[in-house]
Amino acid sequence: MEGEESGFQRASGPSYFDLLSALHRSLAPDLYLEIGSRTGNSLALARGDFIAVDPTFNLKRLLTFPGRQGHLFQMTSDEFFASGFLESTGRKPGFAFLDGMHLFEFLLRDFMNAEARMGPGGVIALHDCCPYDAAMAARERGRTRAWTGDVWKLVPILQELRPDLSIEVFDAAPTGLVVIRNLDPESRILAAAAPELEASLRDVTIEGYGPARFYASFAWASAAEFIAGAPGE
Ligand SMILES: C[S@@+](CC[C@H](N)C(=O)[O-])C[C@H]1O[C@@H](n2cnc3c(N)ncnc32)[C@H](O)[C@@H]1O
Repeated sequence: MEGEESGFQRASGPSYFDLLSALHRSLAPDLYLEIGSRTGNSLALARGDFIAVDPTFNLKRLLTFPGRQGHLFQMTSDEFFASGFLESTGRKPGFAFLDGMHLFEFLLRDFMNAEARMGPGGVIALHDCCPYDAAMAARERGRTRAWTGDVWKLVPILQELRPDLSIEVFDAAPTGLVVIRNLDPESRILAAAAPELEASLRDVTIEGYGPARFYASFAWASAAEFIAGAPGE
């Protein structure tokens, strides 16, 4: 991994789009849930039915899709989960990609809400949890081209509070993809801890936490190896 600033590492494997595509091929979910779609670039990788949520879609892709049902919800993820739509369908996603608001308390809520609704063997992927410099990890979006915000905090939160999860941090460029398996829709551990986590972690910066400490907390999983082992197109 290339070092950008002291202690930082940079996910330098294949693009996260290539890894997402391989995950779609390998998981073949009955239903795909995407939080944060914007242009549709990641949504266009879905190979079947999907639900996509974004308060401001700006779709440039998705002229066709192979599934029978595609649902767009132009609202925040909190509003979507509160709507009860998923429950009303009686269906449970097999794969979810969480790429909405890049503040850790939002991603924590998205993870809790998604996990509670996933089907057996479900997989959740989190985007942008591996910043390669301090500016891109600020809570306020600055002039950086890429903004990860402080969703990197999900990695230590899940490592500490949810040892029951399988957490792989893939070196998918540019800012990593965290792939989480062994989900437990019944778990209420995060919900119980969330108020305290939000208060105690809000003002923690990546510089204060220590980029070296963050990157020492996991071994990169290889996106190239996963892609090579996934079913072909
Ligand atoms: C980084 S973009 C998504 C990019 C897309 N997943 C891709 O890879 O092509 C983040 C999106 O999250 C959306 N967003 C912001 N706040 C949100 C919220 N509270 N709930 C859901 N989506 C949100 C934004 O409108 C934006 O389109």
